[in-house]
Amino acid sequence: MAVAENLAEVPLFAGLSHRDLAHLAKVTHQHVYEAGTVLTSEDRSGVGFFVILEGTARVEVKGKRAKILKAGDFFGEMALIDEGPRSAVVTAETDLRCQVLTDFQFRSFVKEHPEVAWALLRTLVQRIREYQS
Ligand code: CMP
Repeated sequence: MAVAENLAEVPLFAGLSHRDLAHLAKVTHQHVYEAGTVLTSEDRSGVGFFVILEGTARVEVKGKRAKILKAGDFFGEMALIDEGPRSAVVTAETDLRCQVLTDFQFRSFVKEHPEVAWALLRTLVQRIREYQS
């Protein structure tokens, strides 16, 4: 399947035109991480934003399992938004195929696409609610 078609199935990118999806597919890259790979470590800085295209990833906050992320989910936005440390450890549970945006690509893409920014905000709010519950 073409990369732009993969990206069209990601809820975060719903509402983007074919042109925008094709551009995103062209300027960003895809990577497969082996099961067991640690993608973000708590308290380390981060330079990548990851959209899961295939596989699952485990999110752990302060040693506790917070969530399993699957195809269509994303992670790595928090440290890129506030330039603070990573808030959780994210580990590939299975081989994990991701579309990866560098911090610069992430920032400029979100600024150019308010609908993506809004979708990000929704997910951030959901994650805060989960912390509160
Ligand atoms: P960041 O802090 O950059 O790196 C770790 C990532 O884990 C974080 O961004 C979020 O994308 C993700 N994350 C943190 N907490 C949760 C949570 N409660 N549920 C799902 N994902 C989370």
